[in-house]
Amino acid sequence: MTAVATDIESAAGVLRAGGLVALPTETVYGLGANAEDPVAVARIFRVKGRPPSHPLIVHIAAADQLDDWVGEVPATARLLAGHFWPGPLTLVLRRGHRVPLEATGGLETVAVRVPDHPVALALLSAFGGGITAPSANRFGSVSPTTADHVRAELGDAVDFVLDGGSCQVGVESTIVDVTGTTPSILRPGGVTREDLEAVLGNPVAVPSTSDVRVPGRHPSHYAPRARVVLVEPEKVVAEAELARAAGHRVGVFLPPPLTDAAVRAHAVVVLPASPDAYAHGLYGFLRELDQKGCDLIVASLPVEEGLGLAIANRLRRAAGPRSSW
Ligand code: TXA
Ligand code: MG
Repeated sequence: MTAVATDIESAAGVLRAGGLVALPTETVYGLGANAEDPVAVARIFRVKGRPPSHPLIVHIAAADQLDDWVGEVPATARLLAGHFWPGPLTLVLRRGHRVPLEATGGLETVAVRVPDHPVALALLSAFGGGITAPSANRFGSVSPTTADHVRAELGDAVDFVLDGGSCQVGVESTIVDVTGTTPSILRPGGVTREDLEAVLGNPVAVPSTSDVRVPGRHPSHYAPRARVVLVEPEKVVAEAELARAAGHRVGVFLPPPLTDAAVRAHAVVVLPASPDAYAHGLYGFLRELDQKGCDLIVASLPVEEGLGLAIANRLRRAAGPRSSW
């Protein structure tokens, strides 16, 4: 079921009344609130179980509204917004006074993007303001890429779910910090590093650590219930067999060169060869193996170029240590 005009109006009304709306974007579903309503924003953190110090993204309807939400717009930000919006790129800029500190986790910077999804854009224009929205999952778990994922994960905790079908990109937006002298990628995502470099004409750094409080950089994030083990592609089949022999209910992500390998496992996902299709399916594959009752998932990292950089980033975090949760 896809959202219709009356749903958009209802959802805009929910936002105006201080409620929470789950909305589709081209990356993943978001859990949205009126960005200028600190009470509604605080509820997002409660529903997600997210520490209030972790900042949210403000979604706006068009690049020409950027100046309303941020303190200053450097030329680089203007260039990137012009090229990639609407699209899976989030820019971190100086906070404008319309954005409450509740939405930025107390930071003087704010993350902003224009989503490329007709339902999200229709909601933004019907509502008229900014919608602050993290991914519509509980803190630390896998982001939802269908309305059913949202309902399964958040249930009645959200006031309205707008169904926009399955998210085309499937991994979150690329976050680029443009507050410094050179832009850097805080989180790889739907816009590739290569795309950014082509527009900027310079290499773009992907720092591995940052002093910014970004939950997407926490070692264990985007994680299914099953433990994720990463091995070299040629070792996936043998590792799965070892784990099966040790009594695990093993799920396997079979990498493209091995798509016809005989693998004995509880459940097997034959990965698509195209990085676009892999990114699109990634979170659904993780959920599927959880649903099938796997307690361990054996996977390997894709080549870290193009969308492979974002896929590898999410798999590493899914496999990260969980003891510090
Ligand atoms: O594709 C996406 O970005 C999705 C859709 C719904 O737009 N949203 C999303 O939101 O992934 P969330 O909250 O799950 O991740 C947003 C990331 C977080 O890692 C957060 O810390 C970072 O953006 N972020 C937000 N404001 C920031 C800031 N001022 N400085 C640095 N990072 C920031
Ligand atoms: Mg998230």
